[in-house]
Amino acid sequence: MGNTRINMKKLNLTISLESYANDAELSVEERDLLASARKATYKSYAPYSKFHVGAAILLEDGTVVTANNQENAAFPSGSCAEQSAIFWVGANYPEHKIKTIAVIARPSGGDNFRGVSPCGACRQAMLEYENRQQKSIRIIMLTSDNQILISESIGNLLPVKFDEF
Ligand code: THU
Repeated sequence: MGNTRINMKKLNLTISLESYANDAELSVEERDLLASARKATYKSYAPYSKFHVGAAILLEDGTVVTANNQENAAFPSGSCAEQSAIFWVGANYPEHKIKTIAVIARPSGGDNFRGVSPCGACRQAMLEYENRQQKSIRIIMLTSDNQILISESIGNLLPVKFDEF
């Protein structure tokens, strides 16, 4: 028998996401951003995974920055789309605030887009920028059945995050 932990309490964390059946309810700005992310997948360099990820970032002044995953023969040396994009913003627009990020994926050899949600490292990287600008960043993703998911902040996607304790 294990120890009885009489002081243990369970903490149940919940996150909420906006879900839309299609992009009709998105703002024009959000739809355009998703289209930019889609377009960015075509410049991805993903000969190893054959999985092309595109990210588009809308700054508060209306500037849109796009990037994609860039792989390497030494697999861990590659860069995810979201990190490529957010670090580009950090490098070139350090004083600008980010409003929204869109991310989407496309397997090689066709135009069939599919959903992807950012990996843990990308979440942490984007969270840094959310904290830095002290304003939440909205993130638009797709589900695998092409519904649209929106999180009102990056922090929302990373419960029990590194900066929280
Ligand atoms: N990838 C991204 O670009 N973003 C993520 O959030 C996770 C994964 C890339 C890395 C690699 O080039 C490919 O997708 C397959 O894992």
